[in-house]
Amino acid sequence: MKRSRGQKSVTLLVITLLLLFTVDVKCQLTADFYATTCPNLFHIVRKQVQIAVMNEMRMAASLLRLHFHDCFVNGCDGSVLLDGSDSEKLAFPNQNSLRGFEVVDTIKTAVESSCSGVVSCADILAIAARDSIVLSGGSSYKVLVGRRDGMVANQTGANTNLPSPFDPLDIVISRFADQGLNLTDVVALQGAHTIGLARCAVFSSRLFNFSGSGAADSTIDSSLVSQLQSLCPVNGDGNQTTALDQNSTDVFDNHYFKNLINNKGILLSDQDLYSSDMANTTTKSIVESYSTNPQLFLTDFIKSMIKMGNVNPITGSSGQIRTNCRVINS
Ligand code: HEM
Ligand SMILES: *[C@@H]1O[C@H](CO)[C@@H](O)[C@H](O)[C@H]1NC(C)=O
Ligand SMILES: *[C@@H]1O[C@H](CO)[C@@H](O)[C@H](O)[C@H]1NC(C)=O
Ligand SMILES: *[C@@H]1O[C@H](CO)[C@@H](O)[C@H](O)[C@H]1NC(C)=O
Ligand SMILES: *[C@@H]1O[C@H](CO)[C@@H](O)[C@H](O)[C@H]1NC(C)=O
Ligand SMILES: *[C@@H]1O[C@H](CO)[C@@H](O)[C@H](O)[C@H]1NC(C)=O
Ligand SMILES: *[C@@H]1O[C@H](CO)[C@@H](O)[C@H](O)[C@H]1NC(C)=O
Repeated sequence: MKRSRGQKSVTLLVITLLLLFTVDVKCQLTADFYATTCPNLFHIVRKQVQIAVMNEMRMAASLLRLHFHDCFVNGCDGSVLLDGSDSEKLAFPNQNSLRGFEVVDTIKTAVESSCSGVVSCADILAIAARDSIVLSGGSSYKVLVGRRDGMVANQTGANTNLPSPFDPLDIVISRFADQGLNLTDVVALQGAHTIGLARCAVFSSRLFNFSGSGAADSTIDSSLVSQLQSLCPVNGDGNQTTALDQNSTDVFDNHYFKNLINNKGILLSDQDLYSSDMANTTTKSIVESYSTNPQLFLTDFIKSMIKMGNVNPITGSSGQIRTNCRVINS
């Protein structure tokens, strides 16, 4: 028997709905994922982030960075939080550098005491990052959640996927492209360096030209060089820190980009967004727009944060909800 056109389109509609539903269940994060299972989640996390940031303002920066370093390695799956000799914590970009793990433990404990076994460590990082931005004066946004926690740390992945401050711009761009992030995302997300600190170890190579006098890097302001040379003398303490944004260290604003235009970027990878030859045709014009249009930066930053938060989340029944963010459940 031939089916009528009406029956055919009903069948098509059902198939389409089924497909949409499957896709939805498989890989879509949503703002209300925990609405019934942990209705106070956002409040609980915000309160703990507030306490931590009131105790130490820098913690906002440290928590934001944790989410970034999580997402670039095996997706946003909480893998950065796992302890062990094969942990991501011991990878080159993270060792003696990443911080905030105890605060994440405190948040997780608070969340577990209200909603046990429901909320992933990966989602806690995403929410804490948003709250940190807001507490620093950035714009708020709805964090998408529903991630599950991964089962492995990937130290090799952390060493290869995370951009280094010594990488030339083309490598930085390709590290972001590997995660599905484009030029706008590269510039907007690096604007996170409007808060937080960096150690001498990651920029002092720019400061000294041993065969001449002054800086080894022509793209750094000379008064900033003198200042940093005294903070980071040759053979000094590589763990000494300075602000990534010397103008307004704790404030989430567009000064990072104003600094780049004034040759006051701290990391080579920061200044390269404006000053490298490749920047002329890629990132320089975006830096210029953000330096004069703070609102554009804040809204683009949010869009890129949501995009970064969507990198390969584990959903459905894969992965697990860790009880302790530092170890997989036994
Ligand atoms: C090319 C890309 C990037 C490079 C090379 C880079 C590199 C670095 C380095 C070397 C530090 C200082 C670490 C230390 O002193 O031990 C740092 C700090 C920081 N980074 Fe990045 N970063 C990049 C992108 C990002 C992105 C995308 C975010 C977030 C969205 C971010 C957020 C931060 C924050 C907030 C700090 C300060 C952390 C603190 O004070 O504890 N960075 N970054
Ligand atoms: C570790 O990360 C690399 C680079 O993203 C990836 O190719 C590899 O499959 C990952 N390994 C594990 C065990 O997840
Ligand atoms: C980057 O992607 C966003 C969408 O995610 C888009 O709006 C933006 O124009 C893209 N930027 C570039 C330089 O391609
Ligand atoms: C270092 O100084 C020497 C002598 O002034 C100069 O010729 C050279 O170009 C400088 N090197 C860098 C990397 O600036
Ligand atoms: C920084 O401090 C750690 C110990 O906290 C030490 O192991 C490391 O060598 C120091 N790094 C530098 C560059 O001085
Ligand atoms: C920050 O920049 C503004 C101009 O944008 C300037 O007026 C102010 O003095 C700067 N503050 C510091 C601490 O550099
Ligand atoms: C990039 O632009 C600067 C001026 O903004 C110029 O001095 C430099 O030669 C340009 N580099 C290239 C490769 O076009």
